[in-house]
This record gives sequence, C-alpha cells and structure tokens, in this order.
Amino acid sequence: MTNPQLTIFGLPCPTDKKSVVNVSSVPQRSPFRYPGGKTWLIPTVRNWLKQKAKASLLIEPFAGGGIVSLTAAFEKLAEHIIMVEMDKEIAAVWEVILTDKNKWLADKIYSFQLTHEHVNEELDKPDKLLQDIAFCAVLKNRIFHGGILAKGSGMIKNGENGKGLASRWYPKTLHDRIRAIEFVNNRIEFISGDAFEIIAQNINNKDAFFFIDPPYTVAGKRLYTHYELDHEKLLWLTAQLKGKFMLTYDDTTEIRLLADKNRLQYKTLPMKTTHHVEKNEIIISDNFSWWK
Ligand SMILES: C[S@@+](CC[C@H](N)C(=O)[O-])C[C@H]1O[C@@H](n2cnc3c(N)ncnc32)[C@H](O)[C@@H]1O
Repeated sequence: MTNPQLTIFGLPCPTDKKSVVNVSSVPQRSPFRYPGGKTWLIPTVRNWLKQKAKASLLIEPFAGGGIVSLTAAFEKLAEHIIMVEMDKEIAAVWEVILTDKNKWLADKIYSFQLTHEHVNEELDKPDKLLQDIAFCAVLKNRIFHGGILAKGSGMIKNGENGKGLASRWYPKTLHDRIRAIEFVNNRIEFISGDAFEIIAQNINNKDAFFFIDPPYTVAGKRLYTHYELDHEKLLWLTAQLKGKFMLTYDDTTEIRLLADKNRLQYKTLPMKTTHHVEKNEIIISDNFSWWK
C-alpha cells in the first residue's frame, strides 16, 4: 500500500486520486499560447461552473490567455463575463479583439509575411497605436521562446522541426480564432486593470463566480512582466468572497499554509507541464460539491 499524501500538519491530504487530464476534449479558442495557460483545467472548470443552472457572472481577474472566459462564453456557461488583465500588451490584444478592430487584427496576422526583417520593422515601429501593440503582442507570443513576453525572453532560433521563427506561427488558425470571438463579444467585458480592485469591488456579489489564476509563487518571475503579487492578501480576499470561487496555485508549502490560515478548503490535481513533467496544482474553492 502506498502512503497517503500528508499535509504540513501530518494530516492526510485531501487529494482525490485523479489522472492527468486529456486536453483533446477542449477546443483551443485563445489566440495566445499562454505560459501557465489553463486549457488542461477546462474539464474541471466546466464542472465548477455547472454547479448552478447558469452562472450569471463569471469574473476572471488574471485573464492572461483567457481560455476560461472564452470557453464559458462559447459554451454558454455564464451570462456575462468580466476579464481583467494588468499587462498592457496582453490587454491590448483583448481590447482589440473584443471591439471593431477584431477584423483588422485577424487580417493583419493572416497577411503578414513572417521574416526577421518584417518582425523587426513591426517591433521597432515608433508611436504604436493600440492595434499595433496588440499585433506585436501576438507576434511575440508566437515567435518568442515559450510564448514569453516578459523581459529576458527573445526570438526562437531553430524552433520546432528546424522551422525557425514560423514554427508556432499559424496565421489561418489565429485569424479564425480571433474572428470567432466576435460571435461572443456581447457576453464579454474586458478591463485593463488590477485584479485586486475588481475582486474587492465584487466581494459581496453572491451571484459571481471568480476564476482566480494568479502568477505562481515560483515560476511567475520568469514568465510574466507582472509577477509580483501579495499572495497573502489574495488568499485573505478570496476567503471573504460571498460568491463562488476557484483559485489555482502550484502545490507549495507556502500556499497550503496560507490556505489553512484562511480556513480555505483545497484539493490537488495532477497536470503535465509543457516539458512533460508531472506535478500537482492546488485547487482552492468555497465548496467541492461540484468536484467529480
Ligand atoms: C497564470 S497567468 C493566467 C493564465 C490564464 N489563466 C490562462 O489560462 O491563460 C496570470 C496572469 O495574471 C496577470 N497579472 C499579474 N498581476 C496582475 C494583477 N494584479 N491584476 C491583473 N492581472 C495580473 C499576468 O500578467 C498574467 O497574464
């Protein structure tokens, strides 16, 4: 018999034996390949959102690639969705995609001739308009190592199969994903701002569902421009929410301690990183009646 996993207090860990999720059942709807993206968690998020006949409001305060909001919008799992993101480049993409500049961005990607020269021209362009910032963000997300836009990242050299810069540049797919979002943009509101403010503003909203996926304590610094976060405050704030919430984190002692301190329940889920390393994530929620 294997030993049950123990919490830091030596108590059995509330882990259900689950296997790593097969993501082939999840339509890829985001134009981003997002570091720390939650496509793998979508089957769990669907169960969580379906605990009510229909969620009237879903708030995704750390939107990033936005796969949770997009899935909820396309699958009609929430009536209204608020996405929040602080990174100006990522925010520009959502602002453009969700407005009348959607077609401009989709067409620009489709017709762009991907060469080093053209890339440098776009990235070095002075006085960029919002749509130029959005285009550059998509470009960088596709041609920079690991989709990372944060300082210290740079262009792919050899890429997959020696295809170099173009190894992750799929103009037709990106065009189609962006155009498709126009069909659900009436359900999605985007806020370029701070997650903490939006969470605090909705703290007493009993009808809201919060999907909270902050930059993680360990890997955040390498992956995101905005990685510094008061995790203690976030867990405290989450514990005050009157609505439903799901908060995800890397399974670390620090987060378990903070969850225990705020009397928050959690379970763990196995996942595979992009480098095929299996690890556990912590899922914190106000209740687990929806957990399958
Ligand atoms: C783990 S990623 C979210 C990934 C997303 N769930 C997905 O599937 O693509 C965290 C995101 O939070 C953003 N962020 C960091 N601090 C923030 C803040 N205070 N307010 C809003 N967004 C923030 C980062 O820029 C990053 O995009």
